[in-house]
Amino acid sequence: MPRSIILDVDTGTDDAIAIMMAALSPEIDLVACTTVWGNRPVENTTDNTLRVLDYINRSDIPVYRGLDEPFGPIGVPQPSPSDDHSGGKMHPKELDLPPATSVAQTQGAVEWLVETLRARTEPITLVPVGPLTNIAAAITLDPSIIDKVDEIVIMGGAHAFGNATPSAESNIWHDPVAADVVFKAGFKRIVLVPLDATHDALVTGAQASELHALSTPAGLATAICIQQRIVAHDESQPQAIPDSAPIHDAVCIAYLLDPAVLPLNHLHVGIETTGVRTFGRTVIDVRHRGIEEPNAYVALTANADVFYRLLKECVSIQR
Ligand code: RIB
Ligand code: CA
Repeated sequence: MPRSIILDVDTGTDDAIAIMMAALSPEIDLVACTTVWGNRPVENTTDNTLRVLDYINRSDIPVYRGLDEPFGPIGVPQPSPSDDHSGGKMHPKELDLPPATSVAQTQGAVEWLVETLRARTEPITLVPVGPLTNIAAAITLDPSIIDKVDEIVIMGGAHAFGNATPSAESNIWHDPVAADVVFKAGFKRIVLVPLDATHDALVTGAQASELHALSTPAGLATAICIQQRIVAHDESQPQAIPDSAPIHDAVCIAYLLDPAVLPLNHLHVGIETTGVRTFGRTVIDVRHRGIEEPNAYVALTANADVFYRLLKECVSIQR
């Protein structure tokens, strides 16, 4: 029985790969994509999401446009949507895919999330891989929907190093108050996939060429996105392995397909919502020094070989 999920995305290049894996895997029922601001304004993240689904012949998956500014107060100057230190190369305003032919649903993402989860009788998994703005808004509107979610798998946060700032990761930094609301909301099971894990599952240019050679729509699109990410990282965040890049959001989908890709640690995660230098930081109590009980299962490492195997299996599929 495929696992039902909702992907909340700020489609950029790694979101695109996560969408393709989820939309093509026979083990996943991608109920819908909800879009949010983050890498780019929500107009662009919505258009990019539609482009991806059209390109892999999954226009049947509905896309709901979400919020375009932080849920919480802006504590420090917010980044421009393309402020990923790569001059916008990491997440082009328009993905290098044909223009979308399908359109987003008329209902807003937050309203749809509330209505859909209220009516849900079977468990569903939320996979937010952008700022947590939509999720925080939906559970604030109706906290009862939290119980319909069996697991929320979040790409975000960082322990050893940030990317938006020295201490914070982009998704959390864009909307720390939203993240704080989500982590305190009482979800049954929170899995956090921070930069520590995603940077442990790097994909190389040679592997991108291998995916391109599959000659499937997803293989071609994934190769394009990976190559763009490698160029952007080489310029702004060079990796330990030359000619490689992390594919953050896709690691969350790989976890759903094979949890062995992410060894998990039950730890307390707190969100810094006021610090100047630490605004948006996930404070992960890796050595249990605090008094707060663990509230999340946190991946601090990843299995790169398992990740790439799952990635290749998914993008080999053509619908
Ligand atoms: O920090 C990485 C995260 O921020 C990824 O989800 C990427 O798509 C951006 O949203
Ligand atoms: Ca993202």
